[in-house]
Amino acid sequence: MQIQLENQPYSSIQADAIVSYIFDKENRIDGILNDIDHAMDGRLAALVATGELTGKALELVLVHFPEGLDAKRLLLVGAGKPEKFAQSDLRKIAGTALRHLKSRGVKKFIFLAREGERGPAAAQAVTEGLGVADFESNKYQTDKKTNREIQSVLLAGFDAVQNGKLPEAVEHGRVIAESQNFARDLINEPSNRLTPRMLAARAEAMAKEVGLGVEILDERKISELKMGALIGVAQGSVEPPRVIVIRYTPENARPDAPVLGLVGKAVTFDTGGISIKPAENMEKMKYDMGGGATMLGAMRAIAYLKPSVPVIAVIPATENMPGGRAQKPGDVQVAMSGKTIEVINTDAEGRMVLADGVFYARKLGATHLIDAATLTGAIQVALANVHVGAFGTPREYLDQFLESAKAVGEKMWPMPMDDEYEEMIKSNIADIRNTGSGKGGGAITGAWFIKEFAEDTPWIHLDIAATCWVDDGKPWLAKGPTGVAIRSIVDFAMKL
Ligand code: BES
Ligand code: MN
Ligand code: ZN
Repeated sequence: MQIQLENQPYSSIQADAIVSYIFDKENRIDGILNDIDHAMDGRLAALVATGELTGKALELVLVHFPEGLDAKRLLLVGAGKPEKFAQSDLRKIAGTALRHLKSRGVKKFIFLAREGERGPAAAQAVTEGLGVADFESNKYQTDKKTNREIQSVLLAGFDAVQNGKLPEAVEHGRVIAESQNFARDLINEPSNRLTPRMLAARAEAMAKEVGLGVEILDERKISELKMGALIGVAQGSVEPPRVIVIRYTPENARPDAPVLGLVGKAVTFDTGGISIKPAENMEKMKYDMGGGATMLGAMRAIAYLKPSVPVIAVIPATENMPGGRAQKPGDVQVAMSGKTIEVINTDAEGRMVLADGVFYARKLGATHLIDAATLTGAIQVALANVHVGAFGTPREYLDQFLESAKAVGEKMWPMPMDDEYEEMIKSNIADIRNTGSGKGGGAITGAWFIKEFAEDTPWIHLDIAATCWVDDGKPWLAKGPTGVAIRSIVDFAMKL
């Protein structure tokens, strides 16, 4: 799909459709819609009068052969109440329009910018929304509906004065959407087509393509480094683990610049191990490498967008299987940091692989950490499939991250890290246990476990277990992997 800026007047561009949006308010036919309404002999006003065109959020009104326009269709997307509207909503509006038109065989359409949202940031948001909406999870379907394809989208009506900055904004949007889709493609892969070794190979190929440094640690190197927590999880599988290390080094970084460490959980399949999971929904555990894929997507975008700080990604990859050599409940493992872990439940494996991942990232020089993981079912109980659970210390560091999330339209919610929760992971026979004692707070005790290895390094933990995958599609997003958190992480890296 091509996305291009177009300077011609919108009314004389030939296309299968022209798209714009309308607010839910009095006199909703305003600004550019007023011009369109005039050209159409007041037909839009008539649709308002019959109650068909209300502007409520994501309402779709499609008019065929609109008079006065060279496009064959006019699609108006509801933007909701103006006081609730944020620029990041342009992603959903553009994405919803794309998916609606794509399913109707449209190949080329115009997205028409509106008053107040004509600058580079708006163009970037629209481009991201289009790129992410165009992704389909049909890789393994042999009967593809091949003529359903959007070939090009023209961005019209953007600010001529800011024209110089627009192409770069569109380019950034394209990079971010493609990087999100890169991650989504990995998350979709079934575990027989994406073992830790295959994930490492895909990561290595990506890194080389975009010019990032990459190193893959194999099982020998992993045991040399004494990554006992990762090894404890991996030993139940015949597939050997890998640790993927990817480096971005800016051209002239200040010597005192912070170093951002991105650590992603990549359990390519989580059976639960000896504490085995029930069969129902177990197939979903192929997406338990979603945190790792998130960091790979973020690194891909970072390679193009070139923030001024160095970034190191550390992605521990393994299966969690109940093989004959698998770790057992009650076993004690020694993590790379030297801390001892009592394995109460072998299904709490994500925090164990992150323990060594986080510690290793610090050893490689990370001064600031973000980890992403499909860590707990408990985060779904707390926040449903709506918000990413965001943990972190110190609080100011987390707040800074939440600003980025807000700016890019990703819903994340701060979770508590009070000391009382740390008490719940004390072990009787080792330093810590891998599940909380007592009831409740499962996502928080999981976060606290990881913090034991981040120690005083500023650290953020994103529990994406309930948001990395959507079972029902949304008007702007196909069902399946979402690519959530990549935009926030990239925005944060650019501002650090
Ligand atoms: N990968 C799971 C968490 C998960 C659950 C991700 C549902 C996506 C959807 C994780 O490894 C896990 O099994 N967590 C356990 C922890 C428990 C044993 C303390 C859980 O949440 O049940
Ligand atoms: Mn598990
Ligand atoms: Zn898991």
